[in-house]
Amino acid sequence: MQQSENQPADIEIALWRYSENEGNWNRWMQSLSSHERDRAATYRFERDRASFIAGRYLLRQLLSLQTGISPGKVPLSPDRHGKLRLGDRLQFSLANTDGLVAVAVASGCDHVGIDCERADIEIEEAAVDSYCSAEERRWLMELPARERARTAIALWTLKESHLKALGVGLREDPRNIAFSWKDGIPVMVDGGDCDRRWHHRLVESGSQHVVALAACAQSGLPGISTNLFQNDSIPSE
Ligand SMILES: CC(C)(COP(=O)(O)OP(=O)(O)OC[C@H]1O[C@@H](n2cnc3c(N)ncnc32)[C@H](O)[C@@H]1OP(=O)(O)O)[C@@H](O)C(=O)NCCC(=O)NCCS
Repeated sequence: MQQSENQPADIEIALWRYSENEGNWNRWMQSLSSHERDRAATYRFERDRASFIAGRYLLRQLLSLQTGISPGKVPLSPDRHGKLRLGDRLQFSLANTDGLVAVAVASGCDHVGIDCERADIEIEEAAVDSYCSAEERRWLMELPARERARTAIALWTLKESHLKALGVGLREDPRNIAFSWKDGIPVMVDGGDCDRRWHHRLVESGSQHVVALAACAQSGLPGISTNLFQNDSIPSE
């Protein structure tokens, strides 16, 4: 659904560096749906299970605050591409990586997507070629090695956040969406949906993670607040 142009857009981002201590999982699991608990049981590696449980736990806590529905009863359902939906009013997105969960919940936006990656992962040149446009690759090659590595990760997270906002994920070729930086802010310079309703940000994570947000809002730049989620308290600034 397209949102009204007059409705001010607002995005709340919650970042959670959860502990992988198994003792917490049972408590978090109580906030999950039975389908999610079944899915959690299918993970082969404990790290992946913890990541899934933590992600759905945080998402449900935040959506419960927005809707007044108890966390385990929030009626989340994936669309045919895997993007979770909850009616038309709220847009939200979830990302997991190695010890960090990031959730963005938006009102007044048509689309929102979030992605996070560790800042120290090494991306091989061949992989960079598979997601960067020719112009981005030329630009990366001009950067000093350290900055190149960091920028390559930033580009990846920006592109993935955009594709998650659109709901298509990596079905769409990330090379079709290109970014450059203007006054230190990422700007989409190419791509089918490239227009001024789109806003992209790299979010300060307070940790060794790169977090990117993509939002499409007709009412201009959304208000964005970032909170660190502490244990299972509600987010605080
Ligand atoms: C969406 C996608 C980019 C997520 O990438 P990822 O690095 O594995 O995972 P992230 O931590 O960034 O995000 C995970 C969350 O994305 C969400 N998600 C899944 N599919 C999505 C989609 N099409 N659009 C937006 N969000 C999606 C889910 O909420 C998921 O959380 P969950 O694991 O609790 O269900 C990837 O799974 C994808 O492209 N999927 C669709 C296409 C596909 O399956 N391709 C096969 C490989 S090319």
